[in-house]
This record gives sequence, structure tokens and C-alpha cells, in this order.
Amino acid sequence: MHANGTIFIADNDLKTRDLVSAFLTYQGYNITHTEISASFFDTLPKNSADIIIADLAYLHSILPDFSERAASTNPLLVLIGYGSRNSKQAANETSENVFTLPKPLNLDELESLVMRAREYQSMKMLDNTADDGGQYQILTASMIGKSRPMKELFEMITKVAESTATVLVQGESGTGKELAARAIHQLSGRNSRNFVPVNCAAIPDDLLESELFGHVKGSFTGAYANRAGRFEMADKGTLFLDEIGDMKANLQVKLLRVLQNREFEPVGASKSQKVDVRIIAATNKNLEELVISKDFREDLYYRLSVIPITIPPLRDRGEDIPLLINAFLTRFNSDKRHAVKGFSRETLEVLCNYEWPGNVRELENLVERLVILKDSGFITPDDLPEKYLSGRQSVLIPAAGTLLENQLPEVGICLNSAVEEFENRLILQALARTGGNKKEAALLLNLKRTTLIEKLKKKNLAFGEE
Ligand SMILES: Nc1ncnc2c1ncn2[C@@H]1O[C@H](COP(=O)(O)OP(=O)(O)OP(=O)(O)O)[C@@H](O)[C@H]1O
Ligand SMILES: [Mg+2]
Repeated sequence: MHANGTIFIADNDLKTRDLVSAFLTYQGYNITHTEISASFFDTLPKNSADIIIADLAYLHSILPDFSERAASTNPLLVLIGYGSRNSKQAANETSENVFTLPKPLNLDELESLVMRAREYQSMKMLDNTADDGGQYQILTASMIGKSRPMKELFEMITKVAESTATVLVQGESGTGKELAARAIHQLSGRNSRNFVPVNCAAIPDDLLESELFGHVKGSFTGAYANRAGRFEMADKGTLFLDEIGDMKANLQVKLLRVLQNREFEPVGASKSQKVDVRIIAATNKNLEELVISKDFREDLYYRLSVIPITIPPLRDRGEDIPLLINAFLTRFNSDKRHAVKGFSRETLEVLCNYEWPGNVRELENLVERLVILKDSGFITPDDLPEKYLSGRQSVLIPAAGTLLENQLPEVGICLNSAVEEFENRLILQALARTGGNKKEAALLLNLKRTTLIEKLKKKNLAFGEE
């Protein structure tokens, strides 16, 4: 399990190096030992957002190259050492990605520093996704996405906008069907005219006809004056017929007529009226199935789906998740005057693996809720509602150190690895406290020195020379 990324350790003090490396290995990092040399930075993989841990003594030999590199990628430098106040201050003032830790090393401090460093990186990663040019923004509709299916969708929308052909937008609930319809209108030559939405499912059946086509005074009880319908309001603009799958059979016939002749009759009128509207319909129902079950007219279906567009569910375009999170975070932070800095990498991982049955709307609501509840700092998995975490498996065993204080977590635990982790932590802490002296560490743990050495071997923790 090396899920957490790579850490490069450059330290002449072998005991510290081994301790740091053993400790971080057990935290799931991939550790590479390296030496500080002129070509050091050339040996690091390009574009890696990794962590370099070095002795504070190297400060001045590392900094120039590091700063240059940090400008384009986002490596982090953690310096550990006995250095004077001055050198620490110099390091801290150099760049926002340089951190320092005093010796003798405190493992809890190291852990929280590495956590902070990674949070800083995930924030940077989000910043980068936001302006890497891969983002595609459609005018005022602010529809964003960078995954392949979304890029294809954006191309389709841009093309479709040029014509006046009827469009049928399909997709699960919350995928952005209305947003797509608005984008088509915005990009079309009709954008100075009205975009008129009608939710066919929300208007009672007996009112929908008059709502769509208008009525003349006295045509029914309550019709006190002539009233224009949505078709008329959308003249020379776009009419958005939302939830079209819920339209009743008698209105389906009337709608078909408008689509064929571009004319309609207001309720109670004797004359028909001409209109020039572009129609976009949307539904989260499967219209083809409704046609088969005879709940939707086949002829109307073909008239509507001249250009069919399907918006993929969010779970099929994971790449868009961090991008959307970042956009929503910026918006809600500014709406609510909050200063949530970002989502920790672990939290992003959890959210990228979630199924998102409510799609983008669910994600948007979650980010809003998190920003309201947390007005600053980073969002961590602990901030997420339970249902987002239930898909997590034993990889996310809570740190054994916290296990003592906490109850058994809801999701359960893998006892063997928790016990092992607990043991490793205590051993490493003992070694840290004794500056790597195994004899003293063994005393602290009430073990024989040879037993401790055996354990280290078994655990594959190379620790100093024997
Ligand atoms: N690609 C996107 N970029 C930014 N915001 C999006 C995107 N897709 C959807 N949203 C946001 O998600 C929410 C839901 O979008 P929308 O109302 O268009 O979905 P819908 O498919 O019409 O949903 P429903 O089926 O429930 O009517 C809106 O607040 C919208 O702004
Ligand atoms: Mg909708």
C-alpha cells in the first residue's frame, strides 16, 4: 500500500533518516533515500507533487534549486534539524512550501507537518486544475467540466446552438440538463430574447394547456382577462420544456401540432397564432421505454429528438469532481464570506470514489453544507456525512494512536492490521524518544533488546547498522 505518494529523504544522520523513513512507510508513503548533490533536483521526477525531507543543515545548498523548481511544480521541503533560530526563520520566510521541524524529532509533529504539507499540496492541485486550460467554460451558464465526455458534450452544444433544430436532453437527475439547455440558448443567435422554462411535471394537468398556449378572457372559470402563454413569451427565443416525460396524452397531441406547424391556439380562441420558438425538451425518464409502454407518443418522440443529447452521470466522469468542488467552494466561500481553504487529498479521494446518485446537484449541495458548517481550514473526511464514508474499506483504518481514545468506528476495523499498526507506532515512538538507541528503546517497551531487533527485522524496518 503506497497510496499516499512519494517522499524523498536526504539526511546524513542515518538514525533520523531511518526513523523518519520507517515511520512514514507505515503511514503508507513510498520512501526513496537520496543524497543532496548538484544534480539532486534533476533526479526527481518531473511534475511530481512530492515531499522532500532533508537536514536543516542543507538549507542553503538546497534552496536556490528548490525555489526554481517550486515555481513550476509543487514539491514541498521539510527540513529537520538542530539549526539555530536564524536558519529556521530563513527557511520559513523563503517560500510557502518550506517547513521546519526541530530535533530531537517528535513523531507526532512530523506526522502533523506532513499532513499539513499534503493539504497544502491538494489545495495547490485544486488551484492547478482550476486554471490548467483543460477547463471549458460555457458563457454565462457557467457549465464546467474537463473530462472527455464533457468536452464532447460542449462541442455538441456549441454546434447545436447554431441551428434551430429541436433538442432532447436526457440524463439522470441533477446531471445538468437545464444548464445545458440554457447554454444552448446563450450560445445561439436567440440569446437576446427570452429563455422560457416550463416544468411540465410541476404544473397541474388542467392548467398546463393554458400555461403553454395562453387563454382568452372568459374561456374558463377564473379566466378574467386574456393571458399570453409560454409559447408566446418565448417567441424568437427558446422554450425549455422540462420533465417532458410527465406530459399527459391530450397535451402531447397539441404539442405535436405546434412542432409540425409552428402554430397553436390559446385556450378558448377561435384563431391560431404563429410562433417562432426554438424548443429544447428534457427528461430524466427513459422516453424510449415510455414509447414502448405507450405512455409517450412515438411521433412526438421523433419530433423532439431531432438532436438527442445525453448528459453522462457524474460517476462516469470522475475527473470533473475536483474541478466542480473547486468551483463550488469558491462560490460558496464568497457567498457566505467563509474561508474554507480546500479539501484534504484523502477527502477528495473519498468523494471521487463515491457513486453520486444525485449527480452534480448532490455535489453542489454537499459543498454548500460543508462550507456552512466549517467556516475555515480544510475539509477532512471527518467532516463528511456518514453515507459518503461507508464505501471506504479497510485501507482507511484509523490511526491506532487515536483508536485508544475513540470508539470502534462505524465502518468497523481490520483488527490485525490495527494491532500491527499500534505496535509499530509504539516501537517507532520509543526509538524516536531515545534518539534511535535500541537498547534504551527496548527498556521503554519492556522488551529484550534482541526481541526488539527481531521485531524490526520481521517488520522489515531497517534501522541503523547492526
Ligand atoms: N457542468 C456543471 N458545471 C457547474 N455546475 C453544474 C454543472 N452541471 C450541473 N451543475 C449544477 O448542478 C445543479 C443541477 O443542475 P440542473 O438543474 O441543470 O440539473 P438537471 O439535470 O436539470 O436536474 P433535474 O433532473 O433534477 O432537473 C445546478 O445548480 C447546476 O448549476
Ligand atoms: Mg432540471
